[in-house]
Amino acid sequence: MHRAMIQARKKRVAVLISGRGSNMQALVEAARAPDYPAEIALVVSNRPEAPGLAWAKAQGLATLALNHKLYESREHFEGQLQSVLELSRIDLVALAGFLRLMTAPFVERWQGRMINIHPSLLPAFKGLHTHEQALAAGVRISGCTVHFVTPEMDGGPIIAQAAVPVLPDDTPETLADRVLAAEHKLYPTALARVARDQAAWTGDVVSVQLVENAGVNQEQALFSPWPPRAGY
Ligand code: GAR
Repeated sequence: MHRAMIQARKKRVAVLISGRGSNMQALVEAARAPDYPAEIALVVSNRPEAPGLAWAKAQGLATLALNHKLYESREHFEGQLQSVLELSRIDLVALAGFLRLMTAPFVERWQGRMINIHPSLLPAFKGLHTHEQALAAGVRISGCTVHFVTPEMDGGPIIAQAAVPVLPDDTPETLADRVLAAEHKLYPTALARVARDQAAWTGDVVSVQLVENAGVNQEQALFSPWPPRAGY
């Protein structure tokens, strides 16, 4: 059989942003690979001036500025968003620095089809000022998480995580940069897993197929600080 005939249809993804959009860029760049299982069919920003929106436009992607300030309520804003997602025949929604809380009905409508990236090892350090929270807590390892979205902020079932060390002289900015580099690798792989149904959330059941555990040493552990002391 011809290869094109046996390949599954690419999932149509809408990426929702509010600002810089570097995670959206990582998804767009990954999706350029012919065998990537998803295409970025739409980029939406709730802030018209978001730099990420200008970048996406310049790439020739379909973009939309949906200024939340022009809507009288969250429900009206989400109603418009829902119409646009339906018109664009969107299969999956990827939140990438989308700084707007969504109502439970909207989130539930997209259950198992909407994912988010957060710059901490959830369930630690939900919400804003994540890196400040991590430094204040004194953790030696931080990272990022991709999860299915639920009405609870940063609270949904976890799909994938990446860990990075916290270094002695870290500021929130240097830690954010290290975590962001990991985000740009993690998000494309996590989205691909969801698009291939290797990570799925249906009803109350979450299944994440662990294809392999890559990126760790033979002991399957990340130590910080490194090296661990030998001999006791
Ligand atoms: C990213 O670090 C993302 O994880 C974070 O905002 C940043 C957006 O950067 N998201 C959250 O904190 C959500 N709770 P980007 O616009 O360059 O992708």
